[in-house]
Amino acid sequence: MAEKIKFKIDGKECSGEAGQFIIDAAAECGVFIPFLCHMKGIVPAGSCRVCTVKVNGRPMAACTTPVGNDIQNASIENATPQLEEMRKTIIELLFVEGNHFCPTCEKSGNCELQALAYRYKMMVPQFSYNFPLKKLDALTPKLFIDRNRCILCKKCIRSIKDKDNKSYFAFNKRGAKLEIHVDHEMAPSMNDELAQKAMDNCPVGAILKKEKGFEIPIGKRKFDKKPIGSDIEK
Ligand code: FES
Repeated sequence: MAEKIKFKIDGKECSGEAGQFIIDAAAECGVFIPFLCHMKGIVPAGSCRVCTVKVNGRPMAACTTPVGNDIQNASIENATPQLEEMRKTIIELLFVEGNHFCPTCEKSGNCELQALAYRYKMMVPQFSYNFPLKKLDALTPKLFIDRNRCILCKKCIRSIKDKDNKSYFAFNKRGAKLEIHVDHEMAPSMNDELAQKAMDNCPVGAILKKEKGFEIPIGKRKFDKKPIGSDIEK
């Protein structure tokens, strides 16, 4: 078995296998690096930058930076006031860029963006709200797409695929108009299991499975019970 590569995160000795992403190696070592677009086992996107850490003083996305020889004995900063402040700012920006009405959202309590806002004690964002006009899509049999809540993390594009490995989702338009789109020709072939997976993989409430709601009441959902990151073994 290949020897593990050692590094320190906030002074704690950790190690990982060559090629393993820092965020996963850290989790195995009991260190939570906050994230939104990361999903263990799928191709990273590096789109949200919430997982930014400093490797030997250099800001890097922990979900796209693999453990390698250049990481050997590296000193990684994670929960420093500067990085935590930056993460809070990203969360605030995501809130003002979309329309997040948590009290009426089916994903409330299971939403990673909401859970991070609680983690960073976000009250009123320091930026003004954009209140953008976003189109909804309820035309597919199993899913309801609410772009008001989409944070463009690409998790659905990367993880929800048919048997030929073709994604059900894609980005449409560009720049500030970039939006998530579900393929209307493919969507009728989506089964309940995959629709549920699409909803579960979405870190916010942008993808909801139709004909199902409030199965778990508010107050009893994942982050209602424990704050985000507390499932990491310390
Ligand atoms: Fe690393 Fe989003 S979790 S960039």
